[in-house]
Amino acid sequence: SILEMEVEQINKGKYEHYMQKEIHEQPESLTTTMRGRLIRGGSSNRKSVLLGGLKDHLKTIRRSRRIVFIGCGTSYNAALAARTILEELSGIPVTMEIASDLLDRQAPVYRDDTIIFVSQSGETADTLNALEYSLSNGALCVGITNTVGSAIARNTHCGVHINAGSEIGVASTKAYTSQIVVMAMVALAIGADTISTKPRREAIIESLLELPGKVKQVLKLDEEMKDLAKSLISEQSLLMFGRGYNYATALEGALKVKEVALMHSEGILAGEMKHGPLALVDEHLPIVVIATRDQCFSKQQSVIQQLKARKGRLIVMCSEGDGTAVCGSSCRVIEVPLVVDCLQPVVNIVPLQLLAYHLTVLRGYNVDQPRNLAKSVTTE
Ligand code: G6P
Repeated sequence: SILEMEVEQINKGKYEHYMQKEIHEQPESLTTTMRGRLIRGGSSNRKSVLLGGLKDHLKTIRRSRRIVFIGCGTSYNAALAARTILEELSGIPVTMEIASDLLDRQAPVYRDDTIIFVSQSGETADTLNALEYSLSNGALCVGITNTVGSAIARNTHCGVHINAGSEIGVASTKAYTSQIVVMAMVALAIGADTISTKPRREAIIESLLELPGKVKQVLKLDEEMKDLAKSLISEQSLLMFGRGYNYATALEGALKVKEVALMHSEGILAGEMKHGPLALVDEHLPIVVIATRDQCFSKQQSVIQQLKARKGRLIVMCSEGDGTAVCGSSCRVIEVPLVVDCLQPVVNIVPLQLLAYHLTVLRGYNVDQPRNLAKSVTTE
């Protein structure tokens, strides 16, 4: 009805679509996610993390033999983005499971496992089924959701709400970045008893506090991403190469393009390039390469050289000021602000969200309700 349409427009504010609104809201949603949880101050200027829903279980988690992340879609990608920092700060092996695959395999789950269920809605059937399965195997189950009172929030032993605010667009955007931030805070909380990592933990906390400002800065690429989208509007396919912390960024960027712009897109682990994907490279197929500064930077530089040698049509995402050094004049550059390595995925996904958004609008598809997809998949 006309009334419903008007209410919708009020909810969207100055934006045309929820996805657009939710992308641009990220400086605020990230602030809300961290509110009251990062403690800085005292005479020693101590920095720490306080997660009320987890604090009584930290000792048990630290004693677990393995941590397993379980999720679907974007939530899985967010967990993947946080995997490395959790391994680093906890010293515990962290493995990844797509919820349906864990169930298909009836994979071993033990009493001394900590299993972290990541779900925006908290109601995804596959994730819920994996939770039932893990509970019955006696594992400690932790929930990370955006929905207070959801099935996953209720049925896990403990957990953290991401507090990103309600997300309406089917393609998850602000929940993704808030999930990564929450999982980074979980890693900080688990690692808080280790003296040797204190400087590292404090550097991450500092960077977390600056993150909303950096995201605000990267959102200024909006017009540039619209322009890039125009150049890709009639492509069949778009590849995204990432590695290390930003393998998840490649998967999530490709998922956004696939979901809403209805264009084939694939996230590729750059380390696997020579084992197949290189065969696809020619002067036509557009390829996004994520090459921001971290310990994988020089490896990514050599990937760029090899793609260039095969006349690859490159769009390189790099750190501010690195553009010419990283790819000369022969490729398109997306320069993003630098943050601490483990939080870089939060910044790097933003231009790709904007790209997917503009591609969708330009191609004339439904942004907020892509064909065949649902916000929450409550059946198997
Ligand atoms: C569906 C949605 C995705 C979402 C996934 C997991 O596929 O379309 O946007 O990432 O479910 O949802 P969850 O609520 O568990 O994070």
